[in-house]
Amino acid sequence: MSQFEYVDVAQEIAREAGALLKSFYQKGVTAEYKGDVDLVTEADKASEKLIRERLHAAFPAHGVYGEEGTRDRMDSEYRWYVDPLDGTTNFAHGFPAFCVLLGLERRKPGLKPEEDGEMVAGVTYDPLRDEMFVAEKGKGAWLNGRQIHVSKVKTLDESLSGTGFPSKKRHENPNIYFYQEITLRSHGVRRAGSAGLDLAYVACGRLEGFWEFNLNPWDTSAGFLLVQEAGGTVTHFDGSPFTLDSREVLATNGLILGEMTHIFTEMFAGRDLDKILTPAEFAAKRAAEGR
Ligand code: IPD
Ligand code: CA
Ligand code: CA
Repeated sequence: MSQFEYVDVAQEIAREAGALLKSFYQKGVTAEYKGDVDLVTEADKASEKLIRERLHAAFPAHGVYGEEGTRDRMDSEYRWYVDPLDGTTNFAHGFPAFCVLLGLERRKPGLKPEEDGEMVAGVTYDPLRDEMFVAEKGKGAWLNGRQIHVSKVKTLDESLSGTGFPSKKRHENPNIYFYQEITLRSHGVRRAGSAGLDLAYVACGRLEGFWEFNLNPWDTSAGFLLVQEAGGTVTHFDGSPFTLDSREVLATNGLILGEMTHIFTEMFAGRDLDKILTPAEFAAKRAAEGR
């Protein structure tokens, strides 16, 4: 008998949604714009419809909160956060990095609307690699049936991290500076375009860290539990506790948390930004060197 209470059913729903996404991906989809460069495709909507129907059938008393508009039974004790396609921009361009995200929160009766419940289950499914990441509270994090742990890399200069940029109003967000600093001080920063996969990759040790500024609970809830159950940390940029309605997220293997929060604190205070050459300075230097 399985040790899990919710994940067995949820992972089959994610697998079915993932297969649907894969079929759209292989034949090509047309995209519409939600905001300035924020895309949505017919696949996002079809996947959310399938997940909503399957969750209702399997857990009739549970609520569902989906990125593409589902707001069902929001006063239920249990609430699923659904990102039916995380990585839509990649998907629409044929770049192979996207996933399905399902996170389950338990909100004990009496909680105020602004108070967080407890994350009890999370599923992240990458249909192209057939990688199923699952976690339940207190039962560890798993990838295709094998238990996973965060990496043992101890220092930022030996680490690889991920980050992302919002699809709307990127010029109002300072993340490019953080991208610069962490890139200069580590093995590198990947911007692969799926926050859900980034968090799952911290959980299984492919990345030591991940941060992003403007995420929503459908992006973060599954990975929040995966990283914690894999032995990592999920906080704000100053190390204070992450909550489901937090916009910013910093996930680490625990070992580089201190260095990351230190750099972020210094940067927000206007200190510690490494100078890099502007293109004009670079061109002048190159010309002076006769190259
Ligand atoms: C996006 C992806 C991306 C992140 C954006 C998210 P979507 O989700 O996770 O990596 O940088 O902030 O909005 O729109 O593809 O579901
Ligand atoms: Ca998303
Ligand atoms: Ca999405």
